[in-house]
Amino acid sequence: MQLWKLAASCGALMLTAGAGATIEDDLSSVLPFGPRVTGSAANEQARSYFEAQFRAMGYTTRRDVFTYPRFDDLGSDVRLGTRTLTGRALEGSTGGAVTGRIVRIPGVGTAENFRAVNVQGGVAVVQRGQLPFLDKVKNALAAGAAGVIVVNTEAKELQGRLGERVPLPALAVTSVAGAALQEGQQVSLNVRVRDGEVQGVNVVAFKSGLIRPDILFGGHMDSVFRAPGANDNLSGTVAVLDLARRAVNTPLAARSYFVLFDGEEDGLRGSRKFVQDNPGVVQNLKAMFNFDMVGVDASPLNVSGEARLVELARQTAQLSGSARDQGGSDQVPFAQAGVPTLFFHRGLDVNYHQPSDTLADPQLIRATVDAALTTADAALTPVPASR
Ligand code: BES
Ligand code: ZN
Repeated sequence: MQLWKLAASCGALMLTAGAGATIEDDLSSVLPFGPRVTGSAANEQARSYFEAQFRAMGYTTRRDVFTYPRFDDLGSDVRLGTRTLTGRALEGSTGGAVTGRIVRIPGVGTAENFRAVNVQGGVAVVQRGQLPFLDKVKNALAAGAAGVIVVNTEAKELQGRLGERVPLPALAVTSVAGAALQEGQQVSLNVRVRDGEVQGVNVVAFKSGLIRPDILFGGHMDSVFRAPGANDNLSGTVAVLDLARRAVNTPLAARSYFVLFDGEEDGLRGSRKFVQDNPGVVQNLKAMFNFDMVGVDASPLNVSGEARLVELARQTAQLSGSARDQGGSDQVPFAQAGVPTLFFHRGLDVNYHQPSDTLADPQLIRATVDAALTTADAALTPVPASR
């Protein structure tokens, strides 16, 4: 079969699974997988999709696997008669189910507050505020409580962290749920947690043989628990993939690494690991561009990072910029290693880290890619020697 005929017969397939895919295709293919929490099935499904896209364009892909400890709440609650109140385990809490009478602790749960009541064998209900969660829970443990419920000051869920392991089931509830907990009532506390190792996987795409890239384009592909992460950060991931598409038949492809980081939401795990394990690559980089939350215009496209790169982005791509980094994202470990970085983002939108993070605008992502290509071109063009 002649080549053009083969290409034509593959056309339909190529549109969704090959170099012909678009930003729109990427969004509609990956969003249905659901939240891409590191270690989840959806995270892996998304990664397979992205790898297939890179490969269909002729890039080589590599997986960098790493592990780290993580505490997960698998769904915790408080049962009160026939009512079930949703709670969030405090990070560091012990798992388990305990039943006891409610003892409302006065104040904010100081040792003195606990001395004013008898919570022995009961479930301590204590208000959020002033004192670290750890102190409240340790005071409850010392006073002989069987479990602790921390009540938020707002009607929102509270995701608290103890900072160390405490041998007592402890969870947080909203102010609304907290109001339903009356002194002396029988209550059962169900804290379901998993405290173990998580596996993260970065995807690195590049033209075969390239070991010293001049530029690295990155974005994190993981999202937080319960958030589909359309803007945070499928938008940035798709921007990186689209950069690879736009670069594919240009000299830029032969100078670039395209990296999809995992474990960002668990503390920049993937980017830290990359910097740690690839010193040769990192030392040689002229620039690292990171894309995080570029699909919703909470504010106009902004760049921050190294002064010269910010200036280039302003002058060549007419972007607004600031020298200071404005968010914890994957450019940070690179900047700390001395790499000139540029962080592309459109600010924090209202759906940040929420189940409602379901929309990303392809046009905004495309405009980000345009601006990044213009800036990369300027950043990689040698400056003529001045006489
Ligand atoms: N997407 C955010 C970072 C971000 C902030 C992007 C502002 C654009 C504008 C990122 O996923 C995040 O949530 N980072 C955490 C810190 C991280 C170390 C877990 C944050 O900023 O609190
Ligand atoms: Zn993010």
